[in-house]
Amino acid sequence: MEEMHMSSTLPQTTDDILAADAHLVQSWADLNGLKEPHARTAIVAAKGVMVRDSNGHELIDGIGGLWCVNVGHGRHEIIDAISNQLSTLDFYSTFYTFTHPTAAALARKLAELAPGNLNRVHFSTSGSDANDGAVRILHHYYERLGKPSKKLVLSRHGAYHGSTYLSIAMTTPAYSKGWSKAEGIVHHLKKPHYWREGANMTEAEFTDLLVADMRHEIERLGSENIACFIGEPIMGAGGVIVPPKGYHKRIQALCREYDIKFIADEVVTAFGRLGHFFASKAVFDTQPDIITVAKGVTSGYQPLAATIMTDEIYDVVSGPDGVFTHGMTYAGHPAAAAAGLANIALMEAEQIPERAGVTGKIFENTLRTLEDIDIVGEVRGSHFMMGIEFVRDKASKTLFDTKLNIGMLVARKAQEKGLVARPLGHILILSPPLTLSEEQIAKIGGILRESITEVMNELPKNCR
Ligand SMILES: Cc1ncc(COP(=O)(O)O)c(C=O)c1O
Repeated sequence: MEEMHMSSTLPQTTDDILAADAHLVQSWADLNGLKEPHARTAIVAAKGVMVRDSNGHELIDGIGGLWCVNVGHGRHEIIDAISNQLSTLDFYSTFYTFTHPTAAALARKLAELAPGNLNRVHFSTSGSDANDGAVRILHHYYERLGKPSKKLVLSRHGAYHGSTYLSIAMTTPAYSKGWSKAEGIVHHLKKPHYWREGANMTEAEFTDLLVADMRHEIERLGSENIACFIGEPIMGAGGVIVPPKGYHKRIQALCREYDIKFIADEVVTAFGRLGHFFASKAVFDTQPDIITVAKGVTSGYQPLAATIMTDEIYDVVSGPDGVFTHGMTYAGHPAAAAAGLANIALMEAEQIPERAGVTGKIFENTLRTLEDIDIVGEVRGSHFMMGIEFVRDKASKTLFDTKLNIGMLVARKAQEKGLVARPLGHILILSPPLTLSEEQIAKIGGILRESITEVMNELPKNCR
């Protein structure tokens, strides 16, 4: 890893960084817990699949930044493209009558990669606002079609779609405890988690139940009032949940039957994580009306997201008599668009999605071997999108007391051994760069086995 060239005005030591950091309000964190000295980890440099903390520890980045550094850290092809872009055109917007070649080229490239007639790209800066925008655009679409009552959104328990006021409302209600959210717009369907919710049923029966639940909800609300269904092909931040076989196609069929638009939130699943640029068609054989992307589209080197819609939706919202009153200043920022183009070029040149299709399976299979450990209830996910659920009792799938914070205990242990993993209550999430070698995959497997076993052996007797 190269030495950092930090400006001398930046805090250098861990203590100095943490003192400055007292002013930074962390996201999605127990802010009270962070008041403990050294509860935070400062990452100061990164290269390839490795990051370095402010104490000089080298760690495998098992979470790819935040499900996003798909091509690995420090790729000069992307960094140079950003720098060259800024030297030529630092900023211009894609508002009003303006555009610029980099955003235009990225829009064309995304249209080429996205399945079917998803040919129109609206840029934004985060997955949250790409999802928020998808719903706004559909509301406007139905207004223009003379169906102004079509406003409701179907989402699911277990979903994560972001944390703007609307995208948190589309996220699982469990994440809104003590917080307000947009009320009256979103209805949550059952969580499609067979292992936990499908007791005494075959997988096919469980799928029937989920489809029946959706049909019942549509009939109850009235399809004339429903604009869209939104779903991640594999749920990520709600616990890495892979719906049962055949589910996606049947949900899409219901949407078509009732004139409900189908939004696939591919913020995590696109750009190689499951072995393809887009997972909707290639993995789940669905053709959404809108796909939203963020994260892997630039591998996290710049903030950029997109709401990719069909020609049909675009034709309606671009019709006469009305202005498209939606968009954010930095949407399609030249530096972010340059990062997106360079990232995709790199992925194509090195066949990163195709290779992730192979190494991702090795990663998945390596993690699945952890299921023989007593406190591992389920290892789930696909390719480079994996979750490990811990249980106090395997047979009954009983969870540990939440106060024990089992995921955090294992994550801390793994970090001491050189791996960053993400705790989520009783689950541990792994979403590494797609460029991991087989040797690094084996190392991650070893660290996880040791960490989980040590935590299990150190648990107080009354916890087991
Ligand atoms: C599936 C999914 N959708 C949307 C989002 C929100 O993206 P952002 O944090 O860029 O707003 C995330 C973030 O993790 C996500 O995983």
